[in-house]
Amino acid sequence: MSHHSRDATGQGAPLAERSSLWLFGYGSLIYKAGFDFQQRRPAHIRGWRRRFWQGSHDHRGTLSNPGRVATLVAEEGAVCHGMAYRIGPEVLAGLDIREKNGYRRFMTPLWFDDGDSRGTTSKDEGDDEALVYIATEGNEAWLGEASAPEIAAHISAAVGPSGPNRDYLLLLAQSLREMGHNDAHVFAVEEALLALEGRRHTTG
Ligand code: SIN
Repeated sequence: MSHHSRDATGQGAPLAERSSLWLFGYGSLIYKAGFDFQQRRPAHIRGWRRRFWQGSHDHRGTLSNPGRVATLVAEEGAVCHGMAYRIGPEVLAGLDIREKNGYRRFMTPLWFDDGDSRGTTSKDEGDDEALVYIATEGNEAWLGEASAPEIAAHISAAVGPSGPNRDYLLLLAQSLREMGHNDAHVFAVEEALLALEGRRHTTG
């Protein structure tokens, strides 16, 4: 866990007692909410880098053929762009189920891309930080570091209950591009996937 971030269990006011809170999404949560929210705003967190190092047994792959999905790794000076949602605490139970395959909650300071530091007019405690789901090394679905071509090959071969793994990657890359962000890791994996599919296509 990076210096500014803290585990969201067992510290501070329980999230369920808050009237609302910020959730920061950096993977599928950018392009697919699937829950009610009060606001949706481009935002970023600091000290974290997005990486396709987490396995997926339950969404974009299976236990015998896991997919690869995004998680965060701590890196001094890094900025991770994504989407912030203002949610009520009743949304958390569904999110915990959606993110159950190795992710856990943590709280970290949040910055809005428009420069507004809080994003709400209220002065509630915790309005300047966000809940984030992170999968850390050692969880049951962890896959770890690999080259962009290796990750792309892995992604192209995986399908799960939420659909083909390639769709997760391409939707994430498209969303980041539309938001004006250049994520070198995501775009390198996307390029490798498209090259792989192009080769497969042309060779039949
Ligand atoms: C997130 O999007 O913030 C978490 C990872 C995912 O569900 O893809």
